[in-house]
Amino acid sequence: MKPFASLLFAVALTACAAAPQKPSVENDTLYRRLGGVAGVEAVVDASLRRIHGDLRINIFFENTDLADLRRLLIEQICAATGGPCTYSGRSMEEAHSGMNLTDRDFDIFVEDLVAAMTEVKVSPALQQEVLGLFGPMRPQVVGQ
Ligand code: HEM
Repeated sequence: MKPFASLLFAVALTACAAAPQKPSVENDTLYRRLGGVAGVEAVVDASLRRIHGDLRINIFFENTDLADLRRLLIEQICAATGGPCTYSGRSMEEAHSGMNLTDRDFDIFVEDLVAAMTEVKVSPALQQEVLGLFGPMRPQVVGQ
């Protein structure tokens, strides 16, 4: 091997040896970074508390079994963020059918979710990742 090539090889080897063994943030699931099941439960509990107390949208939930909704939201967020869960609820279209939800209702729901995540100390960067997963569901939720 030429001296320059062997120097490059040695540098590359050293870089490999120095590479951290932990999975990089990009490879780690959002579920794990949210704190696993306890983290997801904390987000859902804080969100439901806020939504339940929010006079602008809580009327929609007056006949809802909140324990059931809690279980389904935990499953849904866990599954969507790469956790070891399977969502067993209805499709978003079906679950919100007949409610005629507006964009404003959706925005208020998201506002409550963001406030809840801030309350349980989810970092702004992780909040954006969560919103990136749930924001695109707007057309399946609004106007059904
Ligand atoms: C991305 C946004 C949303 C997500 C991910 C979501 C998720 C869910 C899930 C997983 C369920 C349970 C499904 C099932 O019963 O099988 C559900 C039900 C429900 N959602 Fe949403 N939802 C969203 C937006 C909204 C908004 C904006 C409102 C009202 C302001 C709303 C009101 C309800 C109500 C009232 C139920 C219970 C329906 C029932 O009791 O049968 N949701 N939602």
